[in-house]
Amino acid sequence: MCGIVGYIGKKQAAPILLEGLKKLEYRGYDSAGIAVRGEQGIEVVKTPGRLSNLVEKTAGGALLKGTVGIGHTRWATHGGPSECNAHPHCSADGAVTVVHNGILENFRELKEKLKKSGYEFGSETDTEVIAALIGYYYSKCGDPLRAISRFMRRARGAYALAVLFRDFKDEIFISRKDSPMIVGVGEGEMFIASDVPAILNHTRTVYYVDNLEMARLCADGVVFYHADGEVTEKEPVTVDMDPSAAEKDGWEHFMIKEIHEQPRAVSETFHRYVQGGKIDFSEAGVEEDILKPSHIVIVGCGSAYHVGAVLQYVIEELARIPVRVELASEFRYRNFIFEENTLVVAVSQSGETADTLAAVREAKAHGVKTLAIVNVQGSSIAREADYTLFTVAGAEIAVATTKAYSAQLIVGYLLALEFARLNGKMGEKEYASALAEIDSLPEKMKKILDSKAEYQKFAAEHLGVHDVFMIGRGVDYAVCMEGALKLKEVSYVHTEAYAAGELKHGTISLIEEGTLVVGVLSRDSIAEKTASNLEEVVSRGANVVSLVREGCSAQHSQPGTVWTVPSVAECFAASLLVLPLQLLSYYVSVQLGHDVDKPRNLAKSVTVE
Ligand code: M6R
Repeated sequence: MCGIVGYIGKKQAAPILLEGLKKLEYRGYDSAGIAVRGEQGIEVVKTPGRLSNLVEKTAGGALLKGTVGIGHTRWATHGGPSECNAHPHCSADGAVTVVHNGILENFRELKEKLKKSGYEFGSETDTEVIAALIGYYYSKCGDPLRAISRFMRRARGAYALAVLFRDFKDEIFISRKDSPMIVGVGEGEMFIASDVPAILNHTRTVYYVDNLEMARLCADGVVFYHADGEVTEKEPVTVDMDPSAAEKDGWEHFMIKEIHEQPRAVSETFHRYVQGGKIDFSEAGVEEDILKPSHIVIVGCGSAYHVGAVLQYVIEELARIPVRVELASEFRYRNFIFEENTLVVAVSQSGETADTLAAVREAKAHGVKTLAIVNVQGSSIAREADYTLFTVAGAEIAVATTKAYSAQLIVGYLLALEFARLNGKMGEKEYASALAEIDSLPEKMKKILDSKAEYQKFAAEHLGVHDVFMIGRGVDYAVCMEGALKLKEVSYVHTEAYAAGELKHGTISLIEEGTLVVGVLSRDSIAEKTASNLEEVVSRGANVVSLVREGCSAQHSQPGTVWTVPSVAECFAASLLVLPLQLLSYYVSVQLGHDVDKPRNLAKSVTVE
């Protein structure tokens, strides 16, 4: 959501901060600010709106002299996106300057207490309360780490903090709980960031700050501390992220670039775990007994939840193990009844989604084994789950996920095959043929991408549409859920996914002249039923598209426009069916003139509840 960058070294800090914030723009924000320690003290500049406003106001950073600084892009939670509410925030006496990602849940209570002792606040933010409280503790003890540590004892909620203390000229202090933060190591310079791409142009050597940890940085190094003040030891790691992933490389938008990266992401994810015709999860320490659960619960949010929806059908069909798919935000609070020998599978691109992380913790607290499917190395979910299988999608920058979704499906399919094999439901021949089907997906995806002009043209012809329904049964319905989310999040066109058989139970009353209904039909046994549902909406005035798997029994008898994807085993068809829906969403958004990579109100990584 929000982004943090910090620099301490010998170079002018402000241009480095602005460059880092630019790399974090994709996370979503609505105001930005930086604080740099100059000769006259700490200077703060902030602006509402795009980062370019801040760049302009500071002449690209040239107006702020100083080699120590912190910067922030804010996605408004407490108080609107104004200059006043933008970070950094300072304590009233100017002793403490803070940028903050996350939400301080007990900020009202703390704010009231501070107000009673005469403190006056200038913004509506929870972050100003943090600055005030740390400032208050600092005024009592004169020790930055003790002040932050006392704050951490009082705070409820999630935070990653970067703090400048007026009296400690050559240091930056940080702390975190449930919101990510890394420290980058350079030659005589150090960096901090909420996300790796922000500092990738400067260093690949990073420390991941652990939960409830603090750190004290100077230009030459960093010391880490537990929240109680005790020093902790940790080793830096080298990140292998490709910096070009954060560049558009000639594409107009990240979303279309990432849509086209899907064949590669799928292929690399597949080959990471499949060698010599065998699936091997040993790099993640996953042993056979983990893959013999009696029950599986898949948790995730948004598109990651939709991956779970596909996998539920695939795993149940192939392995005959009961699967439940749960929205992580619901699962974490519902006092879930865990059956014996349950495996919880958490799906997350970022590995930082607050609810999915909480779901992992909830399962672990019940002694249940957790396995995560994650894209970002070093992320919180990757570190906290018992086992992590990484997707090889590469950095995903567009807010709307495409390549991570596709790569997650591949790991899920491979898990399904292993569950099936170990549960005695799949012989060697079927196993080999299923692997070959999955391996064939990248080439088939390329064919769909080659005919993107078809979806672009369709989008241009249907720009005025107000309501879209996507209907299907089984895996096709799960694909509709993802297609509908994609279309609405980037194009702002109202779209709903519906189980085709459910339409008649109320929602069909919304179908009228000009409503667009996309039917997804990939399964021979049930395609005819969805086809009948499409006929029903056509006779009520809807325009219909049938998205069909080549070779499916429904292929030749559909009303309206027909889009086909190459033939593939039914179980894995979701990987192909989703592509036309991604392309449609992209083209509708672009043709309507929306900011497709950064849709309104959205953030790439949802690190608060
Ligand atoms: O990082 P995660 O995969 O945990 O994120 C989950 C959702 O926030 C994410 O999939 C979201 O729904 C995307 N914007 C969808 O495109």
